[in-house]
Amino acid sequence: MGRGRFISLEGGEGVGKSTQVKALAAALRERGLEVVETREPGGSEGAEKIRELLLGGDEDRWGTQAEALLFAAARADHVAKTIRPALDAGKWVLSDRFVDSSLAYQGGAGGLGIEAVREINAFGIGDGFPDRTLVLVLDEGVERARVRDTAGSDRIGGRSADYHHKVELAFRLIAAEEPERVKLIDASGEPQQVTKRLLATIRDLLS
Ligand code: TYD
Repeated sequence: MGRGRFISLEGGEGVGKSTQVKALAAALRERGLEVVETREPGGSEGAEKIRELLLGGDEDRWGTQAEALLFAAARADHVAKTIRPALDAGKWVLSDRFVDSSLAYQGGAGGLGIEAVREINAFGIGDGFPDRTLVLVLDEGVERARVRDTAGSDRIGGRSADYHHKVELAFRLIAAEEPERVKLIDASGEPQQVTKRLLATIRDLLS
């Protein structure tokens, strides 16, 4: 049996990402593939515990560096316990967020720098970077309104509009830096249309 494929879905707050993870998983299963749906922060028992530490509590609970390292630690466990075993068993893995969230949030918006955050994550991920990363994006004006209206109330979702704007800019920068792996997908329109765009972007992996 061959190794499975690893796809991550990314994007800012409330862009319809979770809906698309479910829809894409269903579309892949219709093609006869075995698909593991997972998410970050979380996706393994230990990483779900770290998720509670990261998303709960006061804004100043963690310093910038500690926050980035906790995301990286959760990710290392997620890779070791959930993602790698599934891929080795020939399954596809679809993750709602992965390392590019850390690059965009902690690296781009949090001010640590994309390269520094890539480095601290590489230790835990090894060669387990996604085969393809799909970043859901909206036009800038729509994006700003959406952040204002939908940003969550957890420690990170509740940060300023300026922080979330920097997240969006960082995702676009990462896509420009790694055009083979990271693709920007227009998230506007009907959910079914968006799912079609996602499928079109991974067609080469399906053959
Ligand atoms: P979640 O409730 O999963 O939100 P969403 O529906 O937006 O995915 O919360 C995850 C939050 O954590 C979200 O605000 C993005 C943030 N995050 C980071 O800052 N860095 C990371 O590496 C990851 C995985 C998430």
